[in-house]
Amino acid sequence: MRKNIVAANWKMYFSMGEAQSVAERIAEVVDNKTEVIVCPPFVFLDRLSEVFLDTPIKLGAQNMYFEEKGAFTGEISPVMLKSVGSEYVILGHSERRHIFGEDDIDIHKKVVSAIEHGLKPILCVGETLAQRKDDKAKDVVERQIITALDGVDLSGVVVAYEPVWAIGTGVPADLNTVSEMHTFIRGLVEDVPILYGGSVKDKNAYELAQINDVDGFLVGSASLDTDTFKKIIDEFERAKGVN
Ligand code: PGA
Repeated sequence: MRKNIVAANWKMYFSMGEAQSVAERIAEVVDNKTEVIVCPPFVFLDRLSEVFLDTPIKLGAQNMYFEEKGAFTGEISPVMLKSVGSEYVILGHSERRHIFGEDDIDIHKKVVSAIEHGLKPILCVGETLAQRKDDKAKDVVERQIITALDGVDLSGVVVAYEPVWAIGTGVPADLNTVSEMHTFIRGLVEDVPILYGGSVKDKNAYELAQINDVDGFLVGSASLDTDTFKKIIDEFERAKGVN
């Protein structure tokens, strides 16, 4: 179902103490007009689920392994994520694909397993700069979506369009590109919320949120500062006319 979502991807930042104080501050300032999801590193999930108890804020993990349990040293299962209060899980983030070598088949297995275990996947897709220059952006994103979501019940799924060349650069994709890609993705997944990610800041959130097929954001570095993250939510709501 299409809905507004602003999600924070904390990546590999913060100590336990820092995570707790940032989470407590977020819990103070966020209300329930937009669905807000915080995705901390695994080791903070349990503590943050207590901080977010009785708040509208949802908890998400940044990755998981597709198996339920077994001899998989260093991995985290969907059952574990559920047991520490996760409702969402980011899957297929470009850093997982490019640094850790995850491919579309791995990501498909994770999506299927997440749903089987009652987790909502936030599936990240997006082309590299070379693929864009080669005029392959839509082909790449289509393949990523079709493979990952093959045979999947889309009711809890969220898609995040994150062009690799816009992540962590401070410069988001231009508005025409975002609009074109989101409309293209809408044609593939219809009612699924489609988030934009890649250098979303408080300064550009309003204009990005004005794009019709942008249902929310996946925010990396700008989510580490609570005031900035809150401003992004405010700008998103202002653009969408949410009161
Ligand atoms: P960024 O990261 O906002 O720092 O560009 C976004 C993401 O990787 O999800």
